[in-house]
Amino acid sequence: MTEKQTWSQRFESALNPAIARFNASIGFDIELIKYDITGSQAHAKMLAHTGIISYEEGEILFTGLEQIRQEYDQGKFQPGIDSEDVHFAVEKRLTEIVGDVGKKLHTARSRNDQVGTDTRLYLRDQIRKIRQQLREFQGVLLDIAEKNVETLIPGYTHLQRAQPVSLAHHLLAYFQMAQRDWERLADVYSRVNISPLGCGALAGTTFPIDRHYTAKLLHFDRVYANSLDGVSDRDFAIEFLCAASIIMVHLSRLSEEVILWASEEFRFVTLKDSCATGSSIMPQKKNPDVPELVRGKTGRVFGHLQAMLVIMKGLPLAYNKDLQEDKEGIFDSVNTVKACLEAMTILLQEGLEFRHQRLATAVTEDFANATDVADYLAARGVPFREAYNIVGKVVKTSIAAGKLLKDLHLEEWQEIHPAFAADIYEAIAPRQVVAARNSYGGTGFVQVREAIVNARTQINGK
Ligand code: ARG
Repeated sequence: MTEKQTWSQRFESALNPAIARFNASIGFDIELIKYDITGSQAHAKMLAHTGIISYEEGEILFTGLEQIRQEYDQGKFQPGIDSEDVHFAVEKRLTEIVGDVGKKLHTARSRNDQVGTDTRLYLRDQIRKIRQQLREFQGVLLDIAEKNVETLIPGYTHLQRAQPVSLAHHLLAYFQMAQRDWERLADVYSRVNISPLGCGALAGTTFPIDRHYTAKLLHFDRVYANSLDGVSDRDFAIEFLCAASIIMVHLSRLSEEVILWASEEFRFVTLKDSCATGSSIMPQKKNPDVPELVRGKTGRVFGHLQAMLVIMKGLPLAYNKDLQEDKEGIFDSVNTVKACLEAMTILLQEGLEFRHQRLATAVTEDFANATDVADYLAARGVPFREAYNIVGKVVKTSIAAGKLLKDLHLEEWQEIHPAFAADIYEAIAPRQVVAARNSYGGTGFVQVREAIVNARTQINGK
């Protein structure tokens, strides 16, 4: 390290090069550069607005910062490790461009409130993008649901066949999860969108700044009421990572289902060539790499949440360098969630083909209509628990005889209980089994059609 640090006047000797590398965050916080510039422009305007610097000086700072933005966009500004972090890098370049006036930018500000501002501006943008992606994901789920209201698929509990459901109903469950994610992110946004700018290093500043002015310029809803809290709060990061983790839980569950469905054991879907990969040794293979990767990437987002919680738990007020560790986890989580949402949306859109014939067979080859036999008796006055026990016995003897419920003769039904009549066959046909579950939120076709209409309205609303 040959160059002197910005803070180096207080120091006798230069930083050990290995320590400089260890200390530096420029390698990753360069991601924040456009937000750093925008935040600094607002700060410069405020300094001029309050008379802390002259109007002309404010203009010079603003324009110089704009030039850095362009230089960076054109690949002409690539700060190195000697800048330590993005904040120093921008300030240094500014002074190179506009001369000594550049040195006034950091009046009444600290990197502590600055980095908090940058991170919040970044996260605000990213939350908007992720919410948009969630809407696209929901839209594709709805498109498939609309075409498959009457497609039946076995429904499971304990991964045992339980009751058949409409495929649309199954997909709409994921729509609802994504809806909560979308709403949750809006809630997180409201606490990301608070300005720490002007909290200074920790205690505020001696200058007559106007924090509300910068907050307004940067479209923050409000400002932190306590400067110590403002520079050291990372609740918003924890909340975001938590919301991101829940999104990953949802995507990972869907992934797991697709992986199962694509297996030879289920054969519910075929993976299309555009979204599947082959094996380097087994020529017959078509692998569900996309959902496997999504399932696998879930771990890193959970890890970042855990890391952030641990970073915070023992921190005394106010800023501590530990907080520099917040950024890589946030960036990686943002990139992971966006990549996974995109991949899953494409997979749903063009990578899956439901095997209708196979699904139709699957819902007729088991005892998933047993509850309906019990319900049949219960509807005819037999107490449900008694009916349940009767049907349990029927299932047992049918399995022993190698028969399904639909194969029993009417006489056999009537021997079991006199309440059985010829309409039992209709009552236990898979289509009727599904249609009959017409309670609110159930899989009955009427319910599902209504749920689709509501879902459409919901995503078209905003
Ligand atoms: N690079 C630092 C970070 O990411 C910026 C704030 C540094 N503040 C300080 N007092 N050293 O947290």
